[in-house]
Amino acid sequence: MDCDKSLSAVVFAAGKGTRMHSPLPKVLQPLLEEPMLRYVLSAADPLCPGRVHTLIGHRADLVRGAFPEREGLFIAQDEQLGTGHALATAWGSLRGNPPEYLLVINGDTPLLEEKTLAAFAGKSIRERRDLSFISLTLRDTGDFGLVLRRDGRVQGIVEAGDFNERIHGPKNGEINAGIYCLRTAAVVPLLPLIGNDNTKGEFYITDLVALAAARGLSVEACNLGDDPRLSGINTPAELSRSEEYLRALIVERHLGNGVLIRAPQSVRIGPAVCIEAGADITGPCEIYGRSRIGAGVRIASHCRLQDTAMEQDADMRSFCHAEQAVIGRGCIVGPYARLRPGSVLEEGAHMGNFVEMKKARLGKGAKANHLSYLGDAEVGEGANIGAGTITCNYDGANKHRTRIGAGAFIGSNTALVAPVDIGNGAVVGAGSVITRAVPADSLGVSRARQRSLPLRIMPASEK
Ligand code: UD1
Ligand code: MG
Repeated sequence: MDCDKSLSAVVFAAGKGTRMHSPLPKVLQPLLEEPMLRYVLSAADPLCPGRVHTLIGHRADLVRGAFPEREGLFIAQDEQLGTGHALATAWGSLRGNPPEYLLVINGDTPLLEEKTLAAFAGKSIRERRDLSFISLTLRDTGDFGLVLRRDGRVQGIVEAGDFNERIHGPKNGEINAGIYCLRTAAVVPLLPLIGNDNTKGEFYITDLVALAAARGLSVEACNLGDDPRLSGINTPAELSRSEEYLRALIVERHLGNGVLIRAPQSVRIGPAVCIEAGADITGPCEIYGRSRIGAGVRIASHCRLQDTAMEQDADMRSFCHAEQAVIGRGCIVGPYARLRPGSVLEEGAHMGNFVEMKKARLGKGAKANHLSYLGDAEVGEGANIGAGTITCNYDGANKHRTRIGAGAFIGSNTALVAPVDIGNGAVVGAGSVITRAVPADSLGVSRARQRSLPLRIMPASEK
């Protein structure tokens, strides 16, 4: 669509979402670990960049906090008196710089795609419609607003709770998807005419349709059949269904791009994850956020990655958990490894079972293969961290760093009490508690000398 300055958009995200039974505002409910609202905004942003506003109200602080980059594009609706009131509130803030057309999108339709929205807005503007909205035809019309037509022409929308067959005639299966394109000069004058005399006692945006039709304005319902991408989410069951739909779509897209996904029905991949052709992923498995997976990477079953990069040919074995981590080319991770934020494995490093890392770097080819904690640590190239090594990074008040030089060898069951430095090529004896620097190429050992004493056999009278 040719986007010019005549179009702005507002996404309604002020409602509580009572039917979700959750303390989280509905638009922050995640689908594949991305808040519902992010999907709607990314469909709308390309149409009118910088002019997609978000109406917030219930737990506005949380919504703002989740989208700090959109500061300046929020509009507050302090009381949520319904979608008609939402539109009037938004207009109060937009009228200083009024757009000719306003796209209004319910924040709870996350599967809406940019191309659908662009085609809808483009058509509405080309045909100079005063009010158009997207409708669907569903077998089960649920709680959706029902579209009323006479002789094929749209007459209005009646909310499910207000529908009365005797007054409105039999249901025709056509429902309102909650996405509208308004020619503001024609529609804004109708806003004060919206009342709240309905079962919910709310001001409904949908009343505009009957008001406009009765005045002979050009009203159109753009019917998109039974496209499941357009149904709003109001309940946990609807969220779960939409998430599953999206999950399958994303997995199919990666399969189509040459990613081998085994047991695809149990693989969950976030919408912004990038995976190169030739990666090999086995479900069940979850990959979210801004994760990047290179060609030749293998991810075995039961792994969870969030905002993690795996470079070419890295191998993640089963049951690993990685968050904000970088795993270099050819590394081997797991099984059962945990990479917390700030974990970096340089090329060819190995991190084995029951090893936890946090803000720590394993240098090129370094190995920590068993039962260790490396927190706030630097491990040099080719160093070997023995089983049971712990960096004691926290003294109860502050965190301190451990530096282990290239080629160092840390014996099993060592406690490195930070801040502490182990020099290049140094060796630390097994079972040591190291509290002072070990210079390069020296042996550091701190443990009680072993003694072997004869056992005294106690006489029965002393027992
Ligand atoms: C709405 C429509 C219904 C349509 C359905 C499609 C109305 C009256 N009804 O019903 O015809 O079939 O969407 O999904 O509009 N919101 C605010 N401020 C408010 C009230 C709501 O921002 O004061 C927001 C909500 O956060 C939500 C959106 O508006 O994102 C829609 O509200 P919701 O309560 O979900 O309306 P539905 O009952 O789904
Ligand atoms: Mg809804």
